[in-house]
Amino acid sequence: MADSQPKDRSTHEQWEDELQQLQLSLPKEEWFKAPLCFYQGFWCPTSIIYKEVSAFQNHFQATDTDLILASLPKTGTTWLKSLIYTIVNRKNLSEISQHILRSKNPHELVLHLEYKLYVNNQPDLTNIPSPRLFATHLPYSTIPKSIKTSKCRIVYICRNPLDNFISVCHFWALFDMNKGIKLDMDMIEEHMHKYCKGIFPHGPYDDHLLGYWKESIENPQKVLFLEYEGLKKEPHAHLKKLADFMGYPFSEEEEKENVVDEILELCSLKNLKEMEVNKSGKFYPWFGNNTLFRKGEVGDWTNYLTPSMAKGFDEIHEKLKNAGFSFGYYDSNLLFEATK
Ligand code: A3P
Repeated sequence: MADSQPKDRSTHEQWEDELQQLQLSLPKEEWFKAPLCFYQGFWCPTSIIYKEVSAFQNHFQATDTDLILASLPKTGTTWLKSLIYTIVNRKNLSEISQHILRSKNPHELVLHLEYKLYVNNQPDLTNIPSPRLFATHLPYSTIPKSIKTSKCRIVYICRNPLDNFISVCHFWALFDMNKGIKLDMDMIEEHMHKYCKGIFPHGPYDDHLLGYWKESIENPQKVLFLEYEGLKKEPHAHLKKLADFMGYPFSEEEEKENVVDEILELCSLKNLKEMEVNKSGKFYPWFGNNTLFRKGEVGDWTNYLTPSMAKGFDEIHEKLKNAGFSFGYYDSNLLFEATK
């Protein structure tokens, strides 16, 4: 594909032609009225496919001290952004708790590469003090080469597909363009079929998870693989593991002073949800900050999916199993209990 920052008009026209040709040739689907294209092996929202994704892929230069948070949407990205930022900047913990998290949503503190930084511009990222903290929803196979070849580290967060699906549905029903549509069973069922076939923003689920998981197995210094359910169940141990991986371990003194628990409390769903910036603020143009905080429960899917609907996810579980992956914390018995 052509360079995403054309230098003169003729190059620009040629580039736009190429984009149009490419778009015509790609498989298309819709997700809650938003167009998706199957691009480079994943379902990419058409709105970001050309300029944003390709600009990120073509121009981002990772440095050895960068930290990249990778995730599928609705797997705990916002939570991880608040934790990662706080771990790195915890010398000023009271400043973070009194001012920074009160005036900025976590997405403003750890900027998304394809959804924020490379939107309509080619940002100068060279002056950002190290460690630079970024995030992406792109699958491992499509992230820029420099992320893979440099010594920068990647933290990946996954979440069981059933809760992820329900969370995605709630989020998309609230999208501005959908004008707060009522999420009913028909809509859930229609989108569940798509989700299970991998057709949702940044799907297929198994490809996304397995890409980062395989890399975390082969290269554990490079990729830390976390489960949302693990973070919920053993937050203290997970925060320490995360800080160790990032190169910011907690000292004994900090442990004694309960800094770990303080950070967990500060970045908890309950705490962030109550902050005015997250109740009424709007960081992204398409939705309010409040849509990023809902229930944060494991197993919420049982409130929405019938046992037979839950069976629709078997294929995803099967693909994960065949690749040798099993969730460390998500209790699949819950699924089998519900599907009996
Ligand atoms: P639910 O919709 O199940 O409640 P993302 O940040 O990737 O968009 O994921 C959003 C999901 O994470 C939502 O799940 C949201 O409620 C939950 N979440 C947001 N902040 C959280 C936090 N601080 N702790 C735990 N879960 C959080």
